[in-house]
Amino acid sequence: MAEVIFDHVTRIYPGNDKPSVDDLNLDIKDGEFLVLVGPSGCGKSTTLRMLAGLEEVNKGRILIGDKDVTTMQPKDRDIAMVFQNYALYPHMTVADNMGFALKIAGTPKDEIRKRVEKAAEILDLTEFLDRKPKALSGGQRQRVAMGRAIVREPKVFLMDEPLSNLDAKLRVQTRTQIAALQRQLGVTTLYVTHDQTEALTMGDRIAVIKLGILQQVGAPTELYDRPANVFVAGFIGSPSMNINTHPVVDGKAKVGEDTIDLPKDAVAKLTPEDNNEIIVGFRPEDATLATPDDENAFSLKVVNVEDLGSDGYIYGNILSDDAVSDDHNAMMSDQNKLTTIRVNPRALPQVGDVVKIKINPAKMHLFAPSTELRIN
Ligand SMILES: Nc1ncnc2c1ncn2[C@@H]1O[C@H](COP(=O)(O)OP(=O)(O)OP(=O)(O)O)[C@@H](O)[C@H]1O
Ligand SMILES: [Mg+2]
Repeated sequence: MAEVIFDHVTRIYPGNDKPSVDDLNLDIKDGEFLVLVGPSGCGKSTTLRMLAGLEEVNKGRILIGDKDVTTMQPKDRDIAMVFQNYALYPHMTVADNMGFALKIAGTPKDEIRKRVEKAAEILDLTEFLDRKPKALSGGQRQRVAMGRAIVREPKVFLMDEPLSNLDAKLRVQTRTQIAALQRQLGVTTLYVTHDQTEALTMGDRIAVIKLGILQQVGAPTELYDRPANVFVAGFIGSPSMNINTHPVVDGKAKVGEDTIDLPKDAVAKLTPEDNNEIIVGFRPEDATLATPDDENAFSLKVVNVEDLGSDGYIYGNILSDDAVSDDHNAMMSDQNKLTTIRVNPRALPQVGDVVKIKINPAKMHLFAPSTELRIN
């Protein structure tokens, strides 16, 4: 087992003018499950591949358990990877697939058999050891791919979207199994995904990356409750946070034709570059329907309602002088741009209603427009 350190690590691919990973500092603790998450092309696989030794590091250092591995060959790094396309050898049995890397490394036969049987037991694959991959389900094949990594008893597991070949239901099951398995084995793990739900449910900590630049690292609840900037706020959480820029008038945010109170110390952090505006974010579950005379609420014109049984959601446009008349625009607008509020599914408003919405002041996320950084 080992700690992993990225120390000012940069990767610029030949022919590119911008780094794909830019000055990355990241510390993965011994035994920790760290999830690296971000949109497509943000540099997740590049980060993982640099740690594996499959991609050159142009600046900075990578350490595994105090040892500088920056220029070390992949085979000397004591890591095991599980890829998205974990092609199994079709002509080999499950046991041979799992033990193949050990066989190549010259491990004695009985030692291989021992480790494969142990891994199969952990992965619930014992009864399939003599089968060929084609006679397995997708989830079982995925577990064989995990088994190949486990038998190597590495210092670090690297996983690059290992669940993306599975259907939605199996993905949910398997992510629980992988997280439990990692905790049982206690092997330091770097897990890459673009799926923020996987990140929230699996990781001890999450590192969010955008365009090669690390945005925030923290426990799932830290990122959910206190996103450091607008990007993390919008990326983590489903349905996603409502985020809008509003004028600040007399220390309050002007939301459509209404105003809502803002904490004084946050407003004090705004600078002339912010042009008397503030970015207000709140999650769909952190607002409620208010009475029509509530002073600290804003008006929302409902354009869609959803009843999911356990929860209800309303989607609407913030009512302002120009939006009122523009019903056509409201209907045409992208659902993602609409304000989303979670409500009691037994008391859903109707499409076309104008309702008052009150944000829970303790759950408001405020950002400066000029920097997009958190100010409360
Ligand atoms: N061999 C390469 N040569 C040049 N550019 C590359 C190379 N590999 C990746 N890139 C670029 O580097 C950036 C990061 O790529 P990377 O594969 O790390 O993204 P990712 O976060 O894993 O994305 P995805 O979620 O789609 O897998 C992208 O802009 C990509 O186009
Ligand atoms: Mg990738």
